[in-house]
Amino acid sequence: MNLEKYFKPEVLRAQGYHLTKRAATIKLDQNENPFGFPDFLKEKFWQRAAQLDWERYPDFQMERLTERIAEYVQLPPQNVLVGSGSNSLIQALLMVALAPGDRFIVPEPTFTLYGLFGKMLGAEVVSCRLHAEDFSLPMNEMLAACDSPRAKLLVLCTPNNPTSNSFPLGQLRELLHAFPGLVVIDEAYQEFSSQDAKPLLRKFENLIILRTFSKALALAGLRVGYMMAAPEICDEVRKARLPYSVNLFSETAVMVALDEIAYLKEQVREIMTQRESLLPALRRFASLRVYPSDANFILVRARNGAALFQHLLRDGILVRDVSSYPGLENCLRISVGTKEQNQRLLESMSVFEKVIH
Ligand SMILES: Cc1ncc(COP(=O)(O)O)c(C=O)c1O
Repeated sequence: MNLEKYFKPEVLRAQGYHLTKRAATIKLDQNENPFGFPDFLKEKFWQRAAQLDWERYPDFQMERLTERIAEYVQLPPQNVLVGSGSNSLIQALLMVALAPGDRFIVPEPTFTLYGLFGKMLGAEVVSCRLHAEDFSLPMNEMLAACDSPRAKLLVLCTPNNPTSNSFPLGQLRELLHAFPGLVVIDEAYQEFSSQDAKPLLRKFENLIILRTFSKALALAGLRVGYMMAAPEICDEVRKARLPYSVNLFSETAVMVALDEIAYLKEQVREIMTQRESLLPALRRFASLRVYPSDANFILVRARNGAALFQHLLRDGILVRDVSSYPGLENCLRISVGTKEQNQRLLESMSVFEKVIH
């Protein structure tokens, strides 16, 4: 088929966002909450779900859900926009902010969707490579890239996926000051982090923060994310958000989760405790370089990443091979699991080290 006839060249050039489906008993590849959504909360959810008007459309602007999330983050509802996963808000935001030829600054490596959508929209995606040693921001290069009337959007995922480090608040402030356009701080993993960009909202009108219920709050399957920004910014992005994009069940599950947030926060603390014991345990393996983590996943560089990935998979442990990202040769990204899962990972790792020595 002559696809050039039907599609934009930017789309035909794009690789798409792929994830190979693999079965494994221990799933440490998508940075999900390993404890799952608690059974007692699922019970509450079922009870409420039975009362819903399934035949009716959800609330048009999702006001109830927006108000509840706004209360949770202690902002007025006008500063919050909810969507079907933060992915859908990324798409809506890029759609309204980027025209062909606009400059979009994206540190590399980072969450793939930003560069992918930016290019498909015809923007000039300026990739700024993180410093090889510690994945810190190349501030001089980024500040130079900001200096253009076409610089419309800059994104910073912090903690960054897949490198797992956070970028210091001081640097975020410096970029917010210098950048003439909108700055997106994607805090998908904020709950696991020592940092919080939310106080910056008071100072910078060009700041947009994205968060999600998919990671810490154990609702990846139900697809709910939210944006925090000035009301005027939320209003513009809302124009590109699909109507009714959060369904009644997802809305209800989020309400239930927020009613019992203390319980879920306890799970988050346990995941952080597990991270703190997994990091030094992984560092004992001579064949691994283990990077610091401020998230619920750990980036490691192996001598032979592909061999380690296959070894773990044969042992029923699925991690993410991120070796094709720029600068991440032989790297694997490992989500922090339960104590038992992490123990199995370490045992499997021990066997691998014995084999390669
Ligand atoms: C940095 C970052 N942003 C956004 C997302 C998308 O999350 P959601 O499930 O809310 O669409 C992810 C998911 O992996 C992520 O790592």
